[in-house]
Amino acid sequence: MDSEPKFPPQPEPTSGRRWFLRTLTAAMGTIAAVVLSIPLTSYFFGLRKRQTFWVDLGTLAEFRLDETRKIVFDNPLQQPWDGVTALTGVYARYEGQDEQGVEKFMVLAVNCAHLGCPVSWFPQSGLFMCPCHGGVYYSNGEHASGPPPRGMYHCTWRVADGKLQVQAPHFPTLQDTLISKTA
Ligand code: FES
Repeated sequence: MDSEPKFPPQPEPTSGRRWFLRTLTAAMGTIAAVVLSIPLTSYFFGLRKRQTFWVDLGTLAEFRLDETRKIVFDNPLQQPWDGVTALTGVYARYEGQDEQGVEKFMVLAVNCAHLGCPVSWFPQSGLFMCPCHGGVYYSNGEHASGPPPRGMYHCTWRVADGKLQVQAPHFPTLQDTLISKTA
């Protein structure tokens, strides 16, 4: 005689709920994966555009011919956690007018092309020198000696409303210099 208890067949009341929870989990996982992959995808495909800010460096009358001036400013590209490093600057030199009467400037980032230390300008010798590892640059920013692999970084500049303006510089690197293709 069969002594096993017999249970009536159970309906599957939870199958609809199980399907719903599985679908919901899959949908939420997909959404999370897409959202989290946006920054990475943008980085690799160059889709992230930096905002462009122009910083006034002074009126044209403030620049004397062939004088190199360091101009310090609060970088509008700063992040809240940048602290004092948001205080950056450029070296600007007025180079006169070209044949068409257009004002010419040379604007260099203060950052050394080696590891980014701020370089100093020595008018007596006509050289930029880096205090960190002894990098030296000529007055036109070209590499003179020391570890930097290239000359100083040139910034994108323009003259607008009678003022010299520079495109707010990010931290320049060999792969990501400061010369904008759109300016
Ligand atoms: Fe300027 Fe190294 S950071 S020489």
